Amino acid sequence: MAERLTLEEVSYSYPLPGREDLPALDGISLAVEPGEVLCVAGANGSGKSTLAQVCAGLLAPTAGSMGYGGEKIEGRRRLLSFRRKVGLLFQNAEDQLFADTVFEDVAFGPRNHGLKGEELETRVASAAGHAGIDLDELGGRSPFSLSEGEKRRVALAGVLALDPEVLVLDEPFIGLDFDNGERLKGVLGAYREERGASVVIVTHELADAWSLADRFVLLDGGRCAAVEEKSELVRGDIELAGLGMRLPQWGALARGLIRCGVAVADPSDPVVLARAMAERRRASDGR
Ligand SMILES: Nc1ncnc2c1ncn2[C@@H]1O[C@H](COP(=O)(O)OP(=O)(O)OP(=O)(O)O)[C@@H](O)[C@H]1O
Ligand SMILES: [Mg+2]
Repeated sequence: MAERLTLEEVSYSYPLPGREDLPALDGISLAVEPGEVLCVAGANGSGKSTLAQVCAGLLAPTAGSMGYGGEKIEGRRRLLSFRRKVGLLFQNAEDQLFADTVFEDVAFGPRNHGLKGEELETRVASAAGHAGIDLDELGGRSPFSLSEGEKRRVALAGVLALDPEVLVLDEPFIGLDFDNGERLKGVLGAYREERGASVVIVTHELADAWSLADRFVLLDGGRCAAVEEKSELVRGDIELAGLGMRLPQWGALARGLIRCGVAVADPSDPVVLARAMAERRRASDGR
């Protein structure tokens, strides 16, 4: 079961040799609640990948502090212990893959955690299965010989094989076809349920995380512009276009219905929206 991950006034600047540091995150305060799916969204360059790496303990904040389960993540021992609980899927699969074979790539993390023999094989097979990788077909291949979508799925399998309490995924839907995108949504939802894990999904397209996410963190130029629930995003005043984003179609439809005075229980469920429209129609026909 995951614990609460907190960021307090976290900033991060990239050191640039011979030049001034480049600020990428500025005073971010947020919490990832145990077992929630949190979507981090924003335009290109808004700091999403930097925040993902900070959340995974790979980049240490240049200012501010982080905590997990009520304890500050500070000092090497606590940082290493925190890192073992988090899995990060990088935006670019090639930054993650390195082994000679797909099997070895997926096995690397759990092997490092001390798994071996049958336990290791089972963990690898289960993670590969969840990620949609057929080990009989691809297990012996070099990960670098795979298609982009296959590489991303192998990288995902490697992260799932770590069995993390906190799963951070940077643009996990890019490059996946419809079936694999839907499969990933199912896997993430089930992983959260069964593992009690927290899931952080980074995306520039709200639609990708719309059905899964409980809350949305909107980044703008390295700052947190808002943290909203789906219903608040649909009803709210945040001008998404100004942040380089848009509501997904279901959200836009829900917003239109609400503005016409129709109550909408779940703005991510097309069946709920269709019912709301039908009821509105019946009500106006009966008038
Ligand atoms: N390794 C790096 N060295 C220096 N600056 C960097 C580095 N990585 C990112 N940046 C800068 O930090 C800022 C935030 O970048 P980041 O990659 O976090 O944005 P992003 O929201 O993930 O963008 P995208 O949607 O394109 O993936 C940008 O100004 C970027 O140029
Ligand atoms: Mg990015």
